[in-house]
Amino acid sequence: MSDPSQPTLLLTEIDHVAIAVNDLEAAIAYYSDTFGATVDHREVVESDGVEEALLKVADSYVQLLTPTRDDSPVAKYLERKGQGLHHIGYRVADCSVALEAVKAQGHRVIDESPRPGSRGTTVAFVHPKDAFGTLIELVQE
Ligand code: CO
Repeated sequence: MSDPSQPTLLLTEIDHVAIAVNDLEAAIAYYSDTFGATVDHREVVESDGVEEALLKVADSYVQLLTPTRDDSPVAKYLERKGQGLHHIGYRVADCSVALEAVKAQGHRVIDESPRPGSRGTTVAFVHPKDAFGTLIELVQE
């Protein structure tokens, strides 16, 4: 029996764990040489000022991110916090439904509405301040 007071689970899988790095080639080589992970997809997302490499791990990805310009949010992140975990991408069936659920709870978001992500996905970012310090990306395939 489903509990009517329990909200529907909106997160279906972990899509990717994103790591901000200074040197994308060096980071790819680390994952490839150490763990045998291979690059499944590479893309420059000009609107976000990032270049990314997706390395497949089972049904999820490690997403290595590096800035393409000094004013990109990832460049600022690296300046402030250094390399490391940048955000977690959760798969959702419907990005706008999940985003509205966040807003309905009164939590802050970064994207007011879903927008195009890499690999032809639709994404929206949720503010880390209300999410206990983790930048969350909602990813609809
Ligand atoms: Co991402």
